[in-house]
Amino acid sequence: MFPPGFVWGTATAAYQIEGAVHEDGRGPSIWDTFSHTPGRVLNGDTGDVAADHYHRWREDLAILRDLGVAAYRFSIAWPRIIPTGSGAPNAAGLDWYERFVDALLENSIQPWVTLYHWDLPQPLEDAGGWPARATADAFAHYAEAVGSRLGDRVRTWATLNEPWCSAFLGYQLGIHAPGRSDPRLGLAAAHTLLLAHGRAVDVLRSTSPGARLGIVLNPTHVEPATDAEEDVAAARRADGYQNRWFLDPLYGRGYPADMLETFAAYFEPPSAADLQAIAAPIDFLGVNYYRPSVIRADPRDGFLGARSVQGPDEAVTQMDWVVRPDGLTKLLVRLQRDYPVGSLAVTENGAAYADPPAVAGRLHDPQRTRYLAGHIAAVGDAIGEGVPVSAYFVWSLVDNFEWAQGYSNRFGLVHVDYATQKRTLKDSGRWYRELIAAWTQHLPSPFGRGVGGEG
Ligand code: FCB
Repeated sequence: MFPPGFVWGTATAAYQIEGAVHEDGRGPSIWDTFSHTPGRVLNGDTGDVAADHYHRWREDLAILRDLGVAAYRFSIAWPRIIPTGSGAPNAAGLDWYERFVDALLENSIQPWVTLYHWDLPQPLEDAGGWPARATADAFAHYAEAVGSRLGDRVRTWATLNEPWCSAFLGYQLGIHAPGRSDPRLGLAAAHTLLLAHGRAVDVLRSTSPGARLGIVLNPTHVEPATDAEEDVAAARRADGYQNRWFLDPLYGRGYPADMLETFAAYFEPPSAADLQAIAAPIDFLGVNYYRPSVIRADPRDGFLGARSVQGPDEAVTQMDWVVRPDGLTKLLVRLQRDYPVGSLAVTENGAAYADPPAVAGRLHDPQRTRYLAGHIAAVGDAIGEGVPVSAYFVWSLVDNFEWAQGYSNRFGLVHVDYATQKRTLKDSGRWYRELIAAWTQHLPSPFGRGVGGEG
């Protein structure tokens, strides 16, 4: 079911794991500011130390080797490379990532590098942030610095992670950094992010010739809660907001006409030149999937007239996210049907559950294993339907700073004791290791027949 060469990996992001926020010339980002603002993050947690990966990267690399992953998806911290958002690159920042990339390559692990996983340098936010067009220029400058140093070795790049979250959680809903709440700002931010993506693709084409370039989105499978006309229409708008608002312009169709109408009070259609820049050809689409979206019409919501609902009996994770693996199959099938995606990669999938403590080097987390098994099978189903999925990454390698939820929600295959930074491979991690071995070395599968081994 998974073709030879299918890439198994795990994913992380800089601010969620690195810590060392004041080291080697790193400047502050919007997440430093936000997490240090009382009331913004659960329990007042910050990424100051996180999983201390900046110092413990050798240990984490050994874990990656032990898991047997073919690839590791991580992000580069913009404020380590261009600490104030403009000016010359910080050599110490580039050196750190160069060492890390070289070490991955020495261990035959492909680096899948994301340029932006939400840590905008604070000075750029002070100058207007993502709603300001100049931020796209600043991003191109940063991409140039990274591409010039690592472009000969990194073969897979994603420009942005989930611009929907950066724009709408950050500027429309105020749930994520920088915590602003204005639909106009959200839509302006989304547009600059897409422009920034297009610019960075151009930069990477010249600084990293022959590399595979893409973007990571969080599209989801959207369905109406009922057949009622208003719910169907609301689901269509929700799909426009979550999916088509990004996918359509990326694939050269401009913003969807129905959504331009829905957002008319907040957003002016941009120039043809902008749309052309956004549609710079890419080689793959990264898909982060956690849950589907079931939509009901709701006139109280002035922006979209819709809200997502869930049934009382549905299985949910600790994040209260509904568990629906078939949503992933449907999403992948739809993406390939509706867009010229080339190749697809599931760049994040995973689950937070309230784990029991680690005892004698073991941690039993059967729910996480079940979640992963179900979703990996769902990817296999999509491949069976002819969808060209080339990779799957578990979110996350290690427990980490889960944004506004702080450290309360653990997604890792590896448990982190934050008091001691001790790492313990969870049972789900052991299971994933066996799964990878089964698919890459044709050993007996941990699934039994059907999902793991070929026979
Ligand atoms: C995604 C983010 C990632 C992580 C997971 C749980 O939206 O890309 O950083 O927080 O959710």
